[in-house]
Amino acid sequence: MLSEENNQILTRVGPGTLMGDLLRRYWTPALLSMELPGPDCVPVRVRLLGENLVAFRDTEGKVGLVAENCPHRGASLYFGRNEECGLRCPYHGWKFDTEGTCVDMPSEPADSTFKYKVKLTSYPVHESGGIVWAYLGPRETMTPFRDFGTDSLPEEKVYARKQLARCNWVQTMEGNLDSAHISWLHQFNGVADLPDDGTDKPGYPSNAMAWKFWAHDRAPRLEVHDTWYGYRYAAIRTTPNGNTNVRITEYCVPYSTVVASNPFTTRQLMVVPIDDENCWRYNFTTQVDLNPNGYGGENLFAVSPFETPFRNPGSGITPREYTAENDYLIDREDQRTSTFSGIRDFVSQDFMVTESMGPIYDRTKEHLATTDKAVIRMRNILLKAAKGLPDGGQPPALAGPDHDFRKIRSAEKNLEPGEDWRILGTDDDPVVQEAMLAAANRPPTTPNTPA
Ligand code: FES
Ligand SMILES: [Fe+2]
Repeated sequence: MLSEENNQILTRVGPGTLMGDLLRRYWTPALLSMELPGPDCVPVRVRLLGENLVAFRDTEGKVGLVAENCPHRGASLYFGRNEECGLRCPYHGWKFDTEGTCVDMPSEPADSTFKYKVKLTSYPVHESGGIVWAYLGPRETMTPFRDFGTDSLPEEKVYARKQLARCNWVQTMEGNLDSAHISWLHQFNGVADLPDDGTDKPGYPSNAMAWKFWAHDRAPRLEVHDTWYGYRYAAIRTTPNGNTNVRITEYCVPYSTVVASNPFTTRQLMVVPIDDENCWRYNFTTQVDLNPNGYGGENLFAVSPFETPFRNPGSGITPREYTAENDYLIDREDQRTSTFSGIRDFVSQDFMVTESMGPIYDRTKEHLATTDKAVIRMRNILLKAAKGLPDGGQPPALAGPDHDFRKIRSAEKNLEPGEDWRILGTDDDPVVQEAMLAAANRPPTTPNTPA
């Protein structure tokens, strides 16, 4: 349970709020690169941390992220003309470049110097991994971009998508850091009857067996291990043959998770607040050479009756077919006879539970239990960092010489006797070392050469 005050601090993200100020210290996904497909393309409305912005790609391909409303008399620059290296307001023709500098004020006398005094709010951006990242904080506290392994990603291996969640960002985060619910919300009949394929033993189980383990032990024990970037936690289950299965998920402050994957992955899921009541779920590839299949091997969903998540639409924004308005297309017969939730789409099962808590859940009413350890830890880290900011506290997990964000890897395994789960997915894990060696020995791919 949280006090009303802490719940407000945790969830409010607008300018001038404690959490809003904390989040503004991190480079944040603002939109997908593919939303701005080419030079002088149509501008895009961007709502980020409660601010209304417009993104555009200029004639040279450079991206600008600026305040939506023109500093003259406030017309929306979304309707502007994107031409000759700048965005021209549709009202009186004032024109701004990607830095927000007024480069033309044609409605004023030719000798006027007024244009040198007018500035449009503009935020620094960095394109990486198919995402336009932005820094919305004060310039004097700006730190370098946190590279999760996208900066060196070859063009043909970039994959980034996003999907809208109609609830506060913390609710979505708490779903990503709640390994217990995979034994419930996402389950379906017949899992317990899957035949033992020989991988219920120490080592790496097949995905079918993983599903079986989650269905078999439905009350996992959670262990949280603090790290420089946040924490990693293990959900520990006993398998039908009495082995110890661990699912390790990463939390990197403030909104990044790497969800457990077999044997390990660096695939990122980031939850970016649009405002207090909406957020984007971004998912994107990072170091593909380390995990060549993106998802880490065979399809996790092959054994399940669910639609696979992360479909691949042209726009990059995965559409929502299952919404609150249509009750997520819940099929009660299906719920009785086939699936635990009655909802056919895997990710929409998550949307159903997190959105149905209300736009901003009132955490004074909750009753946290042992499987909520990771959720509690995330809140404590965020609240401490946000409250410490006004006194000059340094936010955790910013870019720095000792901080290699590419080393943040989730993992899943049946432990060998005496094996410590904290090793899994780290540089000390033999399976990671093997993958790094293979990646180093693989011939580099040449862009535009068919594989
Ligand atoms: S309102 Fe934009 S130029 Fe006048
Ligand atoms: Fe889920």
